[in-house]
Amino acid sequence: MPEPLIDSFGRVHTNLRVSVTDRCNLRCFYCMPADNVEFIDRRELLSFEEIERIVRVAVTLGLRKVRLTGGEPLVRRDLHILVARLAAIPEIVDLGLTTNGILLADQAAGLYAAGLRRINISLDALDPQKFEKITRRTGYEQVIAGINAARITGFAPIKVNAVSVRGLTEDEIVPLGLFARRTGVEVRFIEFMPLDAENVWERNKVLFAREIVEILSREIMPLVPCPDANRHTPATEFAFADGVGRIGLIASVSEPFCEQCDRFRITADGKLRNCLFSLAETDIKELIRGGGSDDDIAEAIRASVAAKREGHEINTARFIQPPRLMHAIGG
Ligand code: 5AD
Ligand code: SF4
Repeated sequence: MPEPLIDSFGRVHTNLRVSVTDRCNLRCFYCMPADNVEFIDRRELLSFEEIERIVRVAVTLGLRKVRLTGGEPLVRRDLHILVARLAAIPEIVDLGLTTNGILLADQAAGLYAAGLRRINISLDALDPQKFEKITRRTGYEQVIAGINAARITGFAPIKVNAVSVRGLTEDEIVPLGLFARRTGVEVRFIEFMPLDAENVWERNKVLFAREIVEILSREIMPLVPCPDANRHTPATEFAFADGVGRIGLIASVSEPFCEQCDRFRITADGKLRNCLFSLAETDIKELIRGGGSDDDIAEAIRASVAAKREGHEINTARFIQPPRLMHAIGG
Protein backbone atom coordinates (compact mmCIF):
# COMPACT_ATOMS: atom_id res chain seq x y z
CA MET A 1 0.00 0.00 0.00
CA PRO A 2 1.59 3.34 -1.01
CA GLU A 3 2.03 6.11 1.54
CA PRO A 4 -1.04 8.30 2.11
CA LEU A 5 -1.14 11.79 0.67
CA ILE A 6 0.41 13.73 3.46
CA ASP A 7 1.73 17.27 3.49
CA SER A 8 4.60 18.74 5.47
CA PHE A 9 2.21 19.71 8.30
CA GLY A 10 1.00 16.13 8.74
CA ARG A 11 -2.40 16.67 7.11
CA VAL A 12 -3.66 13.57 5.32
CA HIS A 13 -5.52 14.34 2.09
CA THR A 14 -8.51 12.16 1.27
CA ASN A 15 -10.81 14.69 -0.36
CA LEU A 16 -10.74 15.91 -3.97
CA ARG A 17 -12.86 18.65 -5.51
CA VAL A 18 -13.20 18.28 -9.25
CA SER A 19 -14.27 21.29 -11.26
CA VAL A 20 -15.93 20.11 -14.48
CA THR A 21 -16.43 23.49 -16.14
CA ASP A 22 -15.72 27.16 -15.49
CA ARG A 23 -18.98 28.15 -17.23
CA CYS A 24 -22.03 29.20 -15.32
CA ASN A 25 -25.59 30.35 -15.94
CA LEU A 26 -25.36 32.88 -13.07
CA ARG A 27 -22.87 35.67 -12.42
CA CYS A 28 -22.61 35.89 -8.61
CA PHE A 29 -20.59 38.99 -7.85
CA TYR A 30 -18.36 37.17 -5.34
CA CYS A 31 -17.29 34.62 -7.92
CA MET A 32 -17.40 35.96 -11.49
CA PRO A 33 -17.28 39.18 -13.45
CA ALA A 34 -20.69 40.45 -14.63
CA ASP A 35 -19.95 40.26 -18.36
CA ASN A 36 -17.35 39.35 -20.96
CA VAL A 37 -16.00 36.37 -19.10
CA GLU A 38 -13.29 34.50 -20.96
CA PHE A 39 -14.00 30.83 -20.66
CA ILE A 40 -11.66 27.91 -21.01
CA ASP A 41 -11.63 26.53 -24.55
CA ARG A 42 -13.61 23.28 -24.64
CA ARG A 43 -10.61 21.30 -25.94
CA GLU A 44 -8.75 22.28 -22.80
CA LEU A 45 -11.36 20.72 -20.52
CA LEU A 46 -10.50 17.38 -18.98
CA SER A 47 -12.61 14.65 -20.55
CA PHE A 48 -14.63 12.32 -18.32
CA GLU A 49 -12.05 9.61 -19.08
CA GLU A 50 -9.23 11.87 -17.94
CA ILE A 51 -11.07 12.83 -14.77
CA GLU A 52 -11.82 9.21 -13.98
CA ARG A 53 -8.19 8.28 -14.52
CA ILE A 54 -6.95 10.99 -12.14
CA VAL A 55 -9.50 9.93 -9.52
CA ARG A 56 -8.53 6.25 -9.84
CA VAL A 57 -4.85 7.10 -9.39
CA ALA A 58 -5.66 9.33 -6.41
CA VAL A 59 -7.68 6.49 -4.89
CA THR A 60 -4.48 4.40 -4.74
CA LEU A 61 -3.04 7.28 -2.67
CA GLY A 62 -5.92 7.23 -0.21
CA LEU A 63 -8.55 9.42 -1.86
CA ARG A 64 -12.01 8.60 -0.45
CA LYS A 65 -14.22 11.63 -1.13
CA VAL A 66 -14.97 13.45 -4.36
CA ARG A 67 -17.08 16.53 -4.93
CA LEU A 68 -18.00 17.80 -8.38
CA THR A 69 -18.05 21.58 -8.73
CA GLY A 70 -17.86 24.24 -11.41
CA GLY A 71 -18.49 26.98 -12.48
CA GLU A 72 -21.87 25.35 -12.60
CA PRO A 73 -21.35 21.58 -13.01
CA LEU A 74 -24.81 20.97 -14.47
CA VAL A 75 -23.99 23.01 -17.58
CA ARG A 76 -21.39 20.36 -18.49
CA ARG A 77 -23.13 18.07 -20.96
CA ASP A 78 -24.01 14.56 -19.73
CA LEU A 79 -22.60 15.07 -16.26
CA HIS A 80 -24.56 12.02 -15.10
CA ILE A 81 -22.17 9.86 -17.12
CA LEU A 82 -19.21 11.11 -15.08
CA VAL A 83 -21.24 10.62 -11.89
CA ALA A 84 -21.92 6.99 -12.84
CA ARG A 85 -18.23 6.36 -13.57
CA LEU A 86 -17.13 7.81 -10.24
CA ALA A 87 -19.94 6.18 -8.28
CA ALA A 88 -18.69 2.83 -9.58
CA ILE A 89 -15.33 3.24 -7.80
CA PRO A 90 -15.84 1.32 -4.54
CA GLU A 91 -13.23 3.25 -2.54
CA ILE A 92 -15.09 6.52 -3.12
CA VAL A 93 -17.33 6.42 -0.07
CA ASP A 94 -18.57 9.92 -0.47
CA LEU A 95 -19.50 11.48 -3.83
CA GLY A 96 -21.11 14.91 -3.82
CA LEU A 97 -22.11 17.76 -6.12
CA THR A 98 -22.23 21.51 -5.52
CA THR A 99 -24.67 23.23 -7.87
CA ASN A 100 -26.51 26.53 -8.15
CA GLY A 101 -29.71 24.54 -8.64
CA ILE A 102 -30.87 26.28 -11.83
CA LEU A 103 -30.84 23.07 -13.91
CA LEU A 104 -31.42 20.68 -11.04
CA ALA A 105 -35.14 20.08 -11.47
CA ASP A 106 -34.38 18.67 -14.94
CA GLN A 107 -31.40 16.60 -13.91
CA ALA A 108 -32.15 15.41 -10.36
CA ALA A 109 -33.63 12.05 -11.35
CA GLY A 110 -30.80 11.27 -13.79
CA LEU A 111 -28.11 12.17 -11.28
CA TYR A 112 -29.76 10.07 -8.59
CA ALA A 113 -30.04 7.11 -10.96
CA ALA A 114 -26.32 7.53 -11.74
CA GLY A 115 -25.55 7.05 -8.05
CA LEU A 116 -25.31 10.57 -6.64
CA ARG A 117 -26.77 11.08 -3.16
CA ARG A 118 -25.15 14.16 -1.61
CA ILE A 119 -25.98 17.56 -2.98
CA ASN A 120 -25.20 21.14 -1.98
CA ILE A 121 -27.20 23.94 -3.55
CA SER A 122 -26.06 27.55 -3.48
CA LEU A 123 -28.78 30.02 -2.50
CA ASP A 124 -27.82 33.22 -0.74
CA ALA A 125 -31.22 34.89 -0.54
CA LEU A 126 -34.87 33.86 -0.26
CA ASP A 127 -35.92 37.26 -1.52
CA PRO A 128 -36.05 37.05 -5.35
CA GLN A 129 -34.86 40.64 -5.81
CA LYS A 130 -31.90 40.10 -3.53
CA PHE A 131 -31.17 36.87 -5.42
CA GLU A 132 -31.02 38.83 -8.69
CA LYS A 133 -28.87 41.52 -7.18
CA ILE A 134 -26.32 38.92 -6.04
CA THR A 135 -26.40 36.58 -9.05
CA ARG A 136 -27.03 39.30 -11.66
CA ARG A 137 -29.35 36.90 -13.48
CA THR A 138 -32.89 35.64 -13.08
CA GLY A 139 -33.61 32.10 -11.95
CA TYR A 140 -34.79 32.22 -8.36
CA GLU A 141 -37.88 30.11 -9.07
CA GLN A 142 -35.76 27.51 -10.85
CA VAL A 143 -33.44 27.18 -7.85
CA ILE A 144 -36.40 26.68 -5.50
CA ALA A 145 -37.80 24.11 -7.93
CA GLY A 146 -34.38 22.46 -7.98
CA ILE A 147 -34.27 22.19 -4.19
CA ASN A 148 -37.77 20.72 -4.16
CA ALA A 149 -36.84 18.26 -6.88
CA ALA A 150 -33.80 17.16 -4.85
CA ARG A 151 -36.01 16.58 -1.81
CA ILE A 152 -38.61 14.62 -3.75
CA THR A 153 -35.96 12.54 -5.51
CA GLY A 154 -34.53 11.49 -2.16
CA PHE A 155 -31.08 13.08 -2.10
CA ALA A 156 -29.55 13.08 1.38
CA PRO A 157 -28.01 15.07 2.76
CA ILE A 158 -29.18 18.22 0.96
CA LYS A 159 -27.42 21.37 2.06
CA VAL A 160 -27.99 24.96 1.04
CA ASN A 161 -24.88 27.18 0.90
CA ALA A 162 -25.42 30.87 1.55
CA VAL A 163 -22.54 33.32 1.21
CA SER A 164 -22.91 36.04 3.83
CA VAL A 165 -21.93 39.60 3.02
CA ARG A 166 -22.18 42.51 5.43
CA GLY A 167 -24.45 45.26 4.20
CA LEU A 168 -26.21 42.87 1.83
CA THR A 169 -27.45 39.60 3.31
CA GLU A 170 -28.28 40.40 6.94
CA ASP A 171 -32.02 40.34 6.14
CA GLU A 172 -31.71 36.84 4.70
CA ILE A 173 -30.36 35.16 7.82
CA VAL A 174 -33.64 34.68 9.67
CA PRO A 175 -35.62 33.62 6.56
CA LEU A 176 -32.90 31.08 5.75
CA GLY A 177 -32.94 29.84 9.35
CA LEU A 178 -36.71 29.35 9.12
CA PHE A 179 -36.25 27.65 5.74
CA ALA A 180 -33.91 25.13 7.39
CA ARG A 181 -36.57 24.43 10.03
CA ARG A 182 -39.39 24.14 7.52
CA THR A 183 -37.61 21.91 4.97
CA GLY A 184 -35.11 19.85 6.97
CA VAL A 185 -32.39 21.03 4.60
CA GLU A 186 -29.21 22.13 6.40
CA VAL A 187 -28.44 25.79 5.67
CA ARG A 188 -24.75 26.65 5.76
CA PHE A 189 -23.65 30.25 5.99
CA ILE A 190 -20.25 30.93 4.41
CA GLU A 191 -18.13 33.97 5.16
CA PHE A 192 -17.40 36.01 2.05
CA MET A 193 -13.85 35.24 0.87
CA PRO A 194 -11.53 37.29 -1.37
CA LEU A 195 -11.99 35.30 -4.59
CA ASP A 196 -14.19 37.74 -6.46
CA ALA A 197 -13.57 39.28 -9.84
CA GLU A 198 -14.15 42.93 -9.22
CA ASN A 199 -12.11 43.23 -6.07
CA VAL A 200 -15.03 44.30 -3.95
CA TRP A 201 -13.94 42.07 -1.08
CA GLU A 202 -13.00 43.97 2.04
CA ARG A 203 -12.68 42.71 5.55
CA ASN A 204 -15.59 44.89 6.65
CA LYS A 205 -17.86 43.09 4.17
CA VAL A 206 -17.35 39.79 5.95
CA LEU A 207 -20.40 38.98 8.02
CA PHE A 208 -18.88 36.84 10.73
CA ALA A 209 -20.19 33.39 11.55
CA ARG A 210 -20.46 34.23 15.22
CA GLU A 211 -22.74 37.19 14.42
CA ILE A 212 -24.98 34.89 12.39
CA VAL A 213 -25.24 32.44 15.31
CA GLU A 214 -26.15 35.37 17.53
CA ILE A 215 -28.84 36.65 15.18
CA LEU A 216 -30.43 33.21 14.70
CA SER A 217 -30.30 32.48 18.43
CA ARG A 218 -31.91 35.78 19.28
CA GLU A 219 -34.54 35.93 16.54
CA ILE A 220 -35.54 32.26 16.29
CA MET A 221 -34.26 30.31 19.27
CA PRO A 222 -30.91 29.31 20.76
CA LEU A 223 -28.60 27.18 18.61
CA VAL A 224 -26.77 24.29 20.22
CA PRO A 225 -23.62 22.73 18.72
CA CYS A 226 -24.12 19.28 17.18
CA PRO A 227 -21.95 16.68 18.88
CA ASP A 228 -21.52 14.46 15.82
CA ALA A 229 -19.72 17.16 13.84
CA ASN A 230 -17.06 15.79 11.48
CA ARG A 231 -13.65 17.31 12.21
CA HIS A 232 -12.82 17.61 8.53
CA THR A 233 -15.80 19.59 7.35
CA PRO A 234 -15.18 23.31 7.35
CA ALA A 235 -18.67 23.79 8.77
CA THR A 236 -19.40 23.96 12.48
CA GLU A 237 -22.84 22.46 12.84
CA PHE A 238 -25.64 23.58 15.11
CA ALA A 239 -29.26 22.61 15.69
CA PHE A 240 -32.01 24.80 17.06
CA ALA A 241 -32.70 24.02 20.72
CA ASP A 242 -35.98 22.21 19.93
CA GLY A 243 -34.14 19.89 17.54
CA VAL A 244 -35.85 21.27 14.44
CA GLY A 245 -33.48 22.69 11.80
CA ARG A 246 -29.75 22.32 11.26
CA ILE A 247 -27.42 25.22 10.59
CA GLY A 248 -23.78 25.11 9.48
CA LEU A 249 -21.31 27.94 9.80
CA ILE A 250 -18.25 28.16 7.57
CA ALA A 251 -15.99 30.72 9.17
CA SER A 252 -13.40 30.65 6.41
CA VAL A 253 -12.12 34.11 7.27
CA SER A 254 -12.66 34.54 11.01
CA GLU A 255 -11.74 30.99 12.02
CA PRO A 256 -9.96 29.30 9.15
CA PHE A 257 -10.16 25.56 9.08
CA CYS A 258 -6.80 25.16 7.33
CA GLU A 259 -5.34 23.10 10.19
CA GLN A 260 -7.95 20.40 9.57
CA CYS A 261 -7.92 20.66 5.79
CA ASP A 262 -7.90 17.35 3.89
CA ARG A 263 -8.69 18.72 0.41
CA PHE A 264 -7.05 19.28 -2.88
CA ARG A 265 -8.52 20.34 -6.20
CA ILE A 266 -8.40 19.84 -9.90
CA THR A 267 -9.58 22.64 -12.18
CA ALA A 268 -11.67 22.06 -15.29
CA ASP A 269 -8.55 22.60 -17.44
CA GLY A 270 -6.61 20.02 -15.53
CA LYS A 271 -4.52 21.98 -13.05
CA LEU A 272 -3.95 20.54 -9.61
CA ARG A 273 -4.28 23.03 -6.76
CA ASN A 274 -3.52 22.22 -3.15
CA CYS A 275 -5.57 25.14 -1.80
CA LEU A 276 -8.37 27.50 -2.85
CA PHE A 277 -5.86 30.29 -2.41
CA SER A 278 -2.76 28.69 -3.84
CA LEU A 279 -0.72 30.74 -6.27
CA ALA A 280 0.95 27.69 -7.84
CA GLU A 281 -0.62 24.90 -9.92
CA THR A 282 0.52 21.61 -11.41
CA ASP A 283 -0.51 20.85 -14.99
CA ILE A 284 -1.89 17.31 -14.89
CA LYS A 285 -3.60 17.58 -18.25
CA GLU A 286 -0.33 18.21 -20.01
CA LEU A 287 1.16 15.24 -18.21
CA ILE A 288 -1.72 12.98 -19.28
CA ARG A 289 -1.91 14.21 -22.87
CA GLY A 290 1.87 13.93 -23.15
CA GLY A 291 1.65 10.23 -22.43
CA GLY A 292 2.42 10.25 -18.69
CA SER A 293 1.95 6.99 -16.79
CA ASP A 294 -0.23 6.44 -13.73
CA ASP A 295 2.95 6.59 -11.65
CA ASP A 296 3.73 10.01 -13.13
CA ILE A 297 0.25 11.20 -12.21
CA ALA A 298 0.62 9.80 -8.70
CA GLU A 299 3.98 11.56 -8.31
CA ALA A 300 2.52 14.87 -9.48
CA ILE A 301 -0.37 14.60 -7.02
CA ARG A 302 2.01 13.68 -4.21
CA ALA A 303 4.31 16.61 -4.98
CA SER A 304 1.42 19.08 -5.16
CA VAL A 305 0.07 18.00 -1.78
CA ALA A 306 3.55 17.95 -0.25
CA ALA A 307 4.04 21.59 -1.26
CA LYS A 308 0.86 22.79 0.47
CA ARG A 309 1.28 25.83 2.66
CA GLU A 310 0.21 25.93 6.26
CA GLY A 311 -2.88 28.02 5.55
CA HIS A 312 -4.38 30.93 3.70
CA GLU A 313 -3.12 34.32 4.73
CA ILE A 314 -6.32 36.35 4.38
CA ASN A 315 -5.80 37.69 7.86
CA THR A 316 -2.30 38.98 7.18
CA ALA A 317 -0.82 41.83 5.17
CA ARG A 318 0.98 39.19 3.08
CA PHE A 319 -2.26 37.95 1.50
CA ILE A 320 -2.24 37.81 -2.30
CA GLN A 321 -5.52 37.03 -4.05
CA PRO A 322 -5.00 34.19 -6.53
CA PRO A 323 -5.20 35.28 -10.17
CA ARG A 324 -7.74 32.53 -10.89
CA LEU A 325 -11.29 33.49 -9.94
CA MET A 326 -13.63 31.27 -7.96
CA HIS A 327 -15.60 30.08 -11.00
CA ALA A 328 -12.37 28.84 -12.57
CA ILE A 329 -11.10 27.22 -9.38
CA GLY A 330 -14.25 25.40 -8.31
CA GLY A 331 -15.93 26.21 -5.02
N1 5AD B 1 -16.69 33.60 -0.82
C1 5AD B 1 -17.35 32.60 -0.20
N2 5AD B 1 -17.97 31.60 -0.85
C2 5AD B 1 -17.94 31.61 -2.18
N3 5AD B 1 -18.47 30.77 -3.09
C3 5AD B 1 -18.13 31.22 -4.31
N4 5AD B 1 -17.39 32.33 -4.23
C4 5AD B 1 -17.25 32.62 -2.90
C5 5AD B 1 -16.61 33.65 -2.17
N5 5AD B 1 -15.94 34.64 -2.77
C6 5AD B 1 -19.29 29.60 -2.76
C7 5AD B 1 -20.64 29.61 -3.42
C8 5AD B 1 -20.94 28.17 -3.65
C9 5AD B 1 -19.63 27.49 -3.59
C10 5AD B 1 -19.35 26.84 -4.88
O1 5AD B 1 -18.65 28.45 -3.27
O2 5AD B 1 -21.67 30.07 -2.65
O3 5AD B 1 -21.77 27.64 -2.66
FE1 SF4 C 1 -22.05 30.45 -10.82
FE2 SF4 C 1 -21.69 29.35 -8.41
FE3 SF4 C 1 -20.05 31.27 -9.26
FE4 SF4 C 1 -22.58 31.87 -8.67
S1 SF4 C 1 -21.01 31.09 -7.22
S2 SF4 C 1 -21.44 32.57 -10.51
S3 SF4 C 1 -23.64 30.09 -9.27
S4 SF4 C 1 -20.24 29.26 -10.14
